[in-house]
Amino acid sequence: MITKFYEKCDENELLEAAQILKDGGLVAIPTETVYGLAANAYNGDAVTRVYEAKGRPTDNPMIVHISSIDEIHPLVTDFPESARALADAFWPGPLTMILPKSDLVPREVAPRLETVAVRMPSHPIARKIIELAGCPLAAPSANSSGSPSPTTAQHVLHDLDGKINAVVDGGECDVGIESTVITLATNPPRLLRPGGITVEQLEGVLGHVEVDPAVISELEDGVAPASPGMKYKHYSPKAQVYIVEGSLESFKFLVDSDMQQGDMALCFNGEEADLPIPSLPFGDESDPEAQAHLLFAQLRSFDEQGAKRVFVRAPSSEGVGLGVYNRLLRAAAFKILTPPVIYGLTGQTGAGKSTVAKELEKKGYLIVDGDVAAREVVEKGSPVLENLAKFFGSDILDENGELIRSALAKKAFANEENRQKLNAITHPAVTKWSIDFIKKNFADHKGAVIDAAAIFDSDIRRYCTKMIVVTAPEDIRLERILKRDGLTEDAAMLRIKAQKDEQYYKERADIIIRNYAPYTLADELNLL
Ligand code: TXA
Ligand code: MG
Repeated sequence: MITKFYEKCDENELLEAAQILKDGGLVAIPTETVYGLAANAYNGDAVTRVYEAKGRPTDNPMIVHISSIDEIHPLVTDFPESARALADAFWPGPLTMILPKSDLVPREVAPRLETVAVRMPSHPIARKIIELAGCPLAAPSANSSGSPSPTTAQHVLHDLDGKINAVVDGGECDVGIESTVITLATNPPRLLRPGGITVEQLEGVLGHVEVDPAVISELEDGVAPASPGMKYKHYSPKAQVYIVEGSLESFKFLVDSDMQQGDMALCFNGEEADLPIPSLPFGDESDPEAQAHLLFAQLRSFDEQGAKRVFVRAPSSEGVGLGVYNRLLRAAAFKILTPPVIYGLTGQTGAGKSTVAKELEKKGYLIVDGDVAAREVVEKGSPVLENLAKFFGSDILDENGELIRSALAKKAFANEENRQKLNAITHPAVTKWSIDFIKKNFADHKGAVIDAAAIFDSDIRRYCTKMIVVTAPEDIRLERILKRDGLTEDAAMLRIKAQKDEQYYKERADIIIRNYAPYTLADELNLL
């Protein structure tokens, strides 16, 4: 079959498209959500051909599209007040309602169900075609079953060229993910598929709306889904998709730890340059509408670029984000990766960081000693040491080219500018060393702990899932330092006073460990 392509969308073309539908043919039409593969909803044979063209499982019912409210009455046996209120608020638009089905709806539209799904799209071309065809149109998304829904006419052709009678090109779809599906056949009403109309918007009209568990979790074997479409793996590029929870830094850490040929990332705008693998952005992190708009197009691009594994930055699941997250979960067949926990461990001198580190090591955590990292990066001949010598002068090196720590300290702490320069030269190297250390040694550990005094000043903080601050009152800390370092009391006090106060640490802590009586470390560490 030769698939006609209508791109002018003038009256003549739309009349032709409508005639094909009247004659029982299949036409892909633009809607504000995604492209739909339309057939006359009252023609069971035409509807059967839709299943065939898409390779769609025949138990997966279709949405019937109408262009005016009058068209709904012959389709349903009941049009309750709640449905009318939703129609007033959101039609035409990206909302599908499930209602009791009338006998006029052919069996093929909703096989084995007592209900029918109805939607009034807002796209002017879709509405015009429904009007000209003079009948409601059954239309699932116009993709091959299982692949991402099409948001351009080119996507439709990619999947269905030669299998359908025509495609009407109405440009890019606005919303980009399929309509919100709500069933009014249950009490309270239940959201079956999230989309452009949010749960909050629905609740604004209906009061409480239940969210079907299948929206964000995998159905257990043998449980029948409320919406048959929910049981299929969906929206998938050929690559294996993984959703990665957590921050950009932990995303990088995870992707970097096990890089393979063919790895790609789906990331937020502006993150591309920062990632160690090729990536495609799908909108700003805080803009779920933009993410919805681009999601399917980007999922398709991964195939074109030959991706084998796609790692996805997990989006927020608020508002329209719930729809985005729901589609990604299915694209990933519910594979979610959680990067390893990395704790930052810090505290004032004498608070007992090292004691806490030792306890955490016993509990199965990998400890990264910040002092060791700081020493390693200034080894003889290292680029960091060369840079330090360039800035602070070669008299910080002894005749063997080794660092004289006291000489560096004297210069670096002479003024604020020098101190910052020291940090700027050493911190990135310390961070890299620490992260490499974790990657190399992480196996069989529960998590990693970076034990470093100046962690709040360092970019290594970005890698930490949570910050642990160890505290103890000043007199106890003083006592510990005196015992440990054999200083005079004055020298010890000077050291204590040179640090930021306890408040500074506490404000920045996620977890506070009180390392002094009457508290015990065993109890305190139970918080982790
Ligand atoms: O935005 C959209 O809804 C697009 C455009 C073309 O309108 N259409 C669309 O259709 O996404 P489709 O077939 O890809 O998805 C329809 C979903 C499926 O998950 C199906 O199982 C569910 O709606 N559905 C249809 N009729 C149902 C019914 N009577 N009861 C429960 N679920 C139903
Ligand atoms: Mg679909």
